[in-house]
Amino acid sequence: MVKIDNIELGDFPLLLAPMEDVSDPPFRALCKEQGADVVYTEFISSEGLIRDAAKSIQKLDIYEKERPVGIQIFGANLDSMIKTVEIVERSKPDFIDINFGCPVKKVVSKGAGAGILKDLPLMVKLTEAMVNHTSLPITVKTRLGWDHDSIHIIEVAERLQDVGTKAIAIHGRTRAQMYKGEADWEPIADVKNNARMHIPVFANGDIDSPEKAKQIRDQYGLDGAMIGRASIGNPWFFKQVKYFFETGEHLSEITIKERVTTAKRHLEMAIDWNGEHAGLYETRRHYTNYFKGIPHFKEYRLRMVTSDSKEEVFQVFEEVLKKFS
Ligand SMILES: Cc1cc2nc3c(=O)[nH]c(=O)nc-3n(C[C@H](O)[C@H](O)[C@H](O)COP(=O)(O)O)c2cc1C
Repeated sequence: MVKIDNIELGDFPLLLAPMEDVSDPPFRALCKEQGADVVYTEFISSEGLIRDAAKSIQKLDIYEKERPVGIQIFGANLDSMIKTVEIVERSKPDFIDINFGCPVKKVVSKGAGAGILKDLPLMVKLTEAMVNHTSLPITVKTRLGWDHDSIHIIEVAERLQDVGTKAIAIHGRTRAQMYKGEADWEPIADVKNNARMHIPVFANGDIDSPEKAKQIRDQYGLDGAMIGRASIGNPWFFKQVKYFFETGEHLSEITIKERVTTAKRHLEMAIDWNGEHAGLYETRRHYTNYFKGIPHFKEYRLRMVTSDSKEEVFQVFEEVLKKFS
């Protein structure tokens, strides 16, 4: 049984990765229904939360039905991060995750995200301060290192564990790689195989098929697989992996009916959460993804993304159901 502190996650949990503008409450709830064992919010700026920036605060919303859920935060200032923990606690997540992996310039240039990989003592100090400041479990998501010449992930993981981190998710790329090349799972396995490690080590990066998830489990011996891009437009990925684990076979194609049902539920939850205008707008990129690959779909896609009311979008869904089922 894999556990984050005392949160039980099963034998080989599948985790929905934190993804900005993707892993919002409706999408997380759908992934959870489809078999995700743990979900994360998108990253939330510590400085934004402290300034009470409405957009950051809204990112703290969680539904009961998506638990266990981790709220992910990023920042590089000790006082701000401690204040952030106090704010985040009020939303009662199951754990708090620190982002030490974001590669984008505007985050890294402030020493946050993957920027902290250049200052290991600060990384450890921030983590320790957060662990000591909350009764919630603290976890970390990071990358292999800053660049190819500075991969110290075994030491990083050990030191984070030593100050009380309860799990670590590692994206098998360096900051310098951004999203280029292939993720390397070997160094993540090295972290797991370090005899001193006892917290769960989750692999992340390019796990986009049930076979790769199986490799992560059986060949690399990791504690769980964190899935990002493979879930975009495909919240069913989690159940596809689980079905493959159980039977050794692939689940049949997701039907049009299931796609329509999921798109409808996504839209309804988004409107419920955010109101009709924002709900419609934010869901567009998701539900067009749900129908990816269907031939002669352009006309319907266009109507979906230009409709101004829930009724209009639902009407398109009904037509899609009739035409493509
Ligand atoms: C659209 C998008 C947004 C992302 N936002 C975040 C984020 O907020 N926090 C984070 O730790 N990683 C973020 N990531 C990185 C993913 O969590 C993950 O580490 C990366 O995509 C590699 O995994 P994958 O190959 O399964 O997608 C994001 C990735 C994508 C594609």
